[in-house]
Amino acid sequence: MLILAPMQGLTELLFRKTYEHCFPKAIDYAISPFLSLTHGNLADAWKKIDDVIPELNADSIPVVPQILGKEPLEFVDLANRLYDVGYTEINWNIGCPMRKVAAKHRGSGILPYPGEVNALLDYVVPKMKGQLSVKMRLGHRSKDEILQLIPILNDYPIANVTIHPRTGKQQYSGEVDLDAFEQVIPQIRHKIIYNGDLCTLGDYTRLVQRFPSIKDYMIGRGVLYDPLLPLKIKGVIDADDKTQTLAASLTFISALTDAILSREIHDESKMRKIKEYWCLLRRSLPISELVSMKVLHAQSLGETLSEIHNLTHQSERADLGY
Ligand SMILES: Cc1cc2nc3c(=O)[nH]c(=O)nc-3n(C[C@H](O)[C@H](O)[C@H](O)COP(=O)(O)O)c2cc1C
Repeated sequence: MLILAPMQGLTELLFRKTYEHCFPKAIDYAISPFLSLTHGNLADAWKKIDDVIPELNADSIPVVPQILGKEPLEFVDLANRLYDVGYTEINWNIGCPMRKVAAKHRGSGILPYPGEVNALLDYVVPKMKGQLSVKMRLGHRSKDEILQLIPILNDYPIANVTIHPRTGKQQYSGEVDLDAFEQVIPQIRHKIIYNGDLCTLGDYTRLVQRFPSIKDYMIGRGVLYDPLLPLKIKGVIDADDKTQTLAASLTFISALTDAILSREIHDESKMRKIKEYWCLLRRSLPISELVSMKVLHAQSLGETLSEIHNLTHQSERADLGY
C-alpha cells in the first residue's frame, strides 16, 4: 500500500481531490492533516472538519482522519463522531515535532512519557467504536524512547503503527535512522508503515530490499517533489519515458493551480498557495532552480500565473538545455 502522509497546509482536500482526479488510485489512502484538541475541547478540531467531511471526500483519495492531542474524553468524543459518519480508523499523531506542540507533551513531545501514552490508550481504545492507528517517531529527544513504548503499543489492538525514524528534536533534518528502524521491526506486533525521505524510485527500491517484511509505505514530500512517484512505484508509468512523465506532471500542476484559482479566497492568498506548491512541484520539471524562482518573485497573481505558464511551456520543449 502507498499512503499519502499528512502535511498541514499541503495535503488537505483540495490537493487530495485534484490528485485523485489526475491519477486515480495511484495512492491507496491518505492520513488527513491533524485535527487538533489543543485547547482541550473540539473547537480547534471543528475548524478543520470540512477536510474530512465524507460527502466532500467522495471523489478524493480515501482518507483516515488524524487527531493531535491527549485529552481522553475529547479524543473519544471526536473519534466516535467520526466513526458515526463512516470513519472506521482514526490516526493518533504522536510524531509532530513543533516546539509549541511538543512542549505540552503532545505530538512527539509525549514520546518520552510512556505512562502518558499508556493512560491515553487505556482510556481511549476500549471506548472507541473504530480502530486506532498511530503515527510516531523514534522518540522526541532520543531514538531509544520507542523501546519503552513498544511493549505498551503491543498491549493494545492497534490497526497499524507508522514510524518516521527520526527524533522530534531532529525535526526534518539529518538522516533517517534506518538502523534503529530495522532494530524495532521485530519487536512490534502490529502492522508497520515506513515513513521518511522516500523521494525517488531508487529510495523505494532500496527500502523494499532492506526491509522485506514492510509492505506499506507512507510518502509525504516525495509526492510533492514528484507527483508521479506513486505511479512509478506501482509501475503504472515508465519513469524513463520523459515525455510521458513531463506531460503528466504538467497536467497535475495545471489542475492544482486551477483548483486553487477556483477557491473563494483573496487573490493574495491564491498567489501564496500557488507559490507554496510551485516551490515543491517545480522539482519535477526540467528547469533549473534559478529559472523557476521567477514564479516566486512574481508580484501579483496574474504575474505568477504568467510565469508558470512560461516555464511549463519551456519545460515542454524538452530539448532545451537548461
Ligand atoms: C509542512 C508539513 C506538515 C506536516 N503536517 C503533519 C500533520 O498534520 N500530521 C502528521 O502526522 N505529520 C505531519 N507532517 C509530517 C509528515 O507527515 C511526514 O511524517 C514527514 O514529512 C516525513 O515524511 P516525508 O519524508 O515522506 O515527507 C508534516 C510535515 C510537513 C513537512
